[in-house]
Formats: sequence, structure tokens, C-alpha cells
Amino acid sequence: MLWFAQAAALGRVAAVIAATVVFPLLVSGPAVAQQTPGYPSRPITLIVPFAKGGPTDVVARLISAEMTKSLRQPVVVENVTGAGGTIGTLRAAQALPDGYTLVLGHMGTHAAAVALYPKLGYRPDVDFAPVALVARMPVLLLARRGFPASNLAEFLAYIRGHQDRINVAHAGIGSVSYASCMLLNHLLDINPTGVPFNGTGPAMDALVAGQVDYMCDQIVNAVLPLRTEVIKAYAIASADRDPAVPEVPTAAEAGLPQFQVEAWNAVFAPKNTATEIVHILNAAVVHALDQPEVRAPMTGLGGVIPPPDQRTPGALAALVAAELPKWRQMLKRPLP
Ligand code: MLT
Repeated sequence: MLWFAQAAALGRVAAVIAATVVFPLLVSGPAVAQQTPGYPSRPITLIVPFAKGGPTDVVARLISAEMTKSLRQPVVVENVTGAGGTIGTLRAAQALPDGYTLVLGHMGTHAAAVALYPKLGYRPDVDFAPVALVARMPVLLLARRGFPASNLAEFLAYIRGHQDRINVAHAGIGSVSYASCMLLNHLLDINPTGVPFNGTGPAMDALVAGQVDYMCDQIVNAVLPLRTEVIKAYAIASADRDPAVPEVPTAAEAGLPQFQVEAWNAVFAPKNTATEIVHILNAAVVHALDQPEVRAPMTGLGGVIPPPDQRTPGALAALVAAELPKWRQMLKRPLP
């Protein structure tokens, strides 16, 4: 009966091999994770420099779930808030370049903030290893449901006439919401009271509650409250309407063509992160962006997933290099 026992033992060994080696290879993500043994060998932290529930957090959790599967190590979102996202971003810039600390930055943390903080503590184009662009994000001009204006023209007239009695919510100096509405306020030559939050997740709660008057926010944070009509939108600061909110006119259609803003989210590692680790991380992000679990909610909430040629580390480096002077010029220009 020995041969039977041996056959049974071999069968068990084969089953173990299949379950621990073959099967994961069949279901894992990009093969590159298997080509670089040793990384990742423990959980990876993805810093979100804003509060839970906001657009950056939502995007981070969508991709981290898929990256966890393909890298076969937990990609853990850590919200590190404050100072318009620059505290969490600085944390990532100063982390060991070992591939275990990443940040989901954006147009604010890695472009607009440089124009607004004389001593930022990091240089977006120097102190990071670009990994991949995740999404481009239209920006909407939003107001509390009871705001006394039914369209952009009425909104602009009202805030011009009442700027000392209205307030604008944002996620801290240098955030997307701050930079976008700063541009709007520049265009209107107004300076209303700003109300800072640790992210536009909590800021949206205040807008829904009617505690603040208006906000410029990324579309993924606005679609659901717009659909439930607990807030309203006067314009989308893009060239075209967005299919997620087709009823929202472009700023140009509504009479303010100069109000053109686009945000974006991207994954960065600290500078000096090894090239092969950047490539493994890039492959994991790119793989995530092609999964329906990411594509459906991201596009359903108005986010725009970049085409393959815009997902490379080099493309992200070029984007940051272009955004830095653009925002420096947009935010420093004299009032109209
Ligand atoms: C957030 O995720 O809360 C936003 O990105 C904050 C902002 O940049 O406005």
C-alpha cells in the first residue's frame, strides 16, 4: 500500500504547488511582479494627503485594491492631512526610496502648491520618482442648494455684490479646490472668506449642510450629491460637458470662458527609488487602470482614465514639468 500513500503524498504536494505557485501566476496581474523576486516583500503604504472620503481618497482606494491583487502585497492607504496636502506629500518625499512608501499626489500637491508656498519643503519635479498618471479630473463650480442664484451669471453677480458676506470652502492652501477657486476669484476680482478643511470630503459635508456657500471641486466628489440634488453646480471648468453630469454647462457656455481648470491624480515614489521598482509599481498601476473594478466607478464618477501613452513615468514627469510654470503664471498673475 506504500505506493498508494506515496501517490497520495505526491498528489498533496502537487496540490500545494498548484495553490501556492501556479494558481497565483495564472491569476496575478502583471508578470513583472514575478520577474523581480524580493519586491514587494511587505505591505506598501500609499499616502493620501487629504481626508477620507474625498476625491483623492476615493481614487487611491480604487487603485490600491487592484494593486494589492497584482503585487500580492497589501497596498494600504494612509490619510496624512494638513496644509493643503503638502504635509502628506512631504512625508512621501522624505520617505526611504525603497518602494514601500508612495503618495497619490495631484495638480495641487505637485504643481499649484509650489506657487503658493515659498518654503514648500519639496520640489515636485526633483524630489519624487514619477510612477504613473491615474486620472484626469474635471473641476466643477458648486454651491449649496439654497444659494440665491439659478445660473452662473446670477452667481457671479451675487458674489461680486456680496463678497464680504459669502464664503468659499477649500482643502487648504495649495489644494485643487483652493487653486481652482483662487483662479475664479482672480477672474472676478473678489476675495471672499475662505473656509479650510482637511479635504473636500468634509468640505462637501459642509456644503451639503449649507454651512459654506460655494466650492470648486473635482468631479468624482460632486456627481453623487448633484444627482441627489443636495448641492448645485453652475459650471464645469472644461472645454466640454462631462457625460457624468451632462446637465452642467461648461464655463464658456455659461459666460466665463476664462475659467478653465483640469486636475489630475498621479502616483509618485520618493526620488532615487530604483528603476526596476518604479517599473513594477507602474505596471501595477497600469494594470489597475484596465480593470473594470476601477474603470467603471472612476468613469461613472466623471474621472478620465488616461490612454496608455500617458501612463508612463516619463509622461508623468513631462506633465509635472508643464504644470509647474502654468500654475505659477496662473496664480501669480495680477488681478484683472
Ligand atoms: C481631496 O481629495 O480632498 C481633494 O483633492 C482636496 C483638494 O485638492 O481640493
